[in-house]
Amino acid sequence: MTEPFLRVRRNTDSSHKIFRPVKLLTQFWNSSIGKKWIVALTGLALIGFVFGHLAGNLQVFAGPEKINEYAAFLHSIPKTLWVMRIGLLAAFVTHLVATISLVTANKSARPEAYAVSKHQVSRLATRMMFGSGLVIVSFVVYHLLHYTLRTTDARFKLLADGGKLASENDVHTMLVLGFQSPLVSAFYLIAVGLLAVHLSHGVTSVFRTLGLTSHNNAGGLVKLGNLVGAAVFVGYGSIPVAVLAGFLKLQA
Ligand code: HEM
Repeated sequence: MTEPFLRVRRNTDSSHKIFRPVKLLTQFWNSSIGKKWIVALTGLALIGFVFGHLAGNLQVFAGPEKINEYAAFLHSIPKTLWVMRIGLLAAFVTHLVATISLVTANKSARPEAYAVSKHQVSRLATRMMFGSGLVIVSFVVYHLLHYTLRTTDARFKLLADGGKLASENDVHTMLVLGFQSPLVSAFYLIAVGLLAVHLSHGVTSVFRTLGLTSHNNAGGLVKLGNLVGAAVFVGYGSIPVAVLAGFLKLQA
């Protein structure tokens, strides 16, 4: 008797409509395929940032004025910059939490490790996804302290404050000083190398998760992933290498 009554009450409750998107989102998050989509979509947003940031950084090869103007432009739109930062942080944290949750669920569903046969040996990049992701997280934390907050190097202060920067936007001097340290450059090269490996697999995974992989394009997508990884490594890696080689120097 009570069951039909309850059903009628639920259907006439207006809060039911309001909370429906939240409920759908929770169901999406709680399903394994939903979480994979979240990892894929946030991954795409992060890849967009990686290439946008790379395009900005490569302006260092066009001379100090160019990259410093670019930094000045970014700092002149603080509200937009903060919206982008918050979006980026949200995508980064969601990507991380969803991945950790998927990995934990997979491990508890299969408590005993499989005996590894020749057929089960996956690409190195696939097996390195979690480990490379963790190194990238620690790199990003260091990188923010290094070039955004400028707390790791006393020279990244204004000339007036005893530092070496002509202005807040003197990114050129900061990059050259930073990468003149072989240790710092080596860490950046290792980190962007791992980022490249991570993305080479990530790109192909995104297509698979979104159901866009077919027998015909599978090989091409692996090549695309490798191309993306190579572009990231060569692009980002070129900056510390150019400083160490003396190609990028402090302004006279
Ligand atoms: C050689 C490689 C790189 C160079 C030279 C570089 C350079 C910089 C510089 C100069 C800034 C500070 C901009 C400013 O405050 O004026 C910055 C910020 C940042 N970088 Fe990089 N970067 C490199 C690689 C990366 C990589 C691989 C990632 C991500 C995986 C990354 C993520 C970020 C983030 C999240 C910020 C903070 C942006 C903000 O202030 O809102 N960077 N980078």
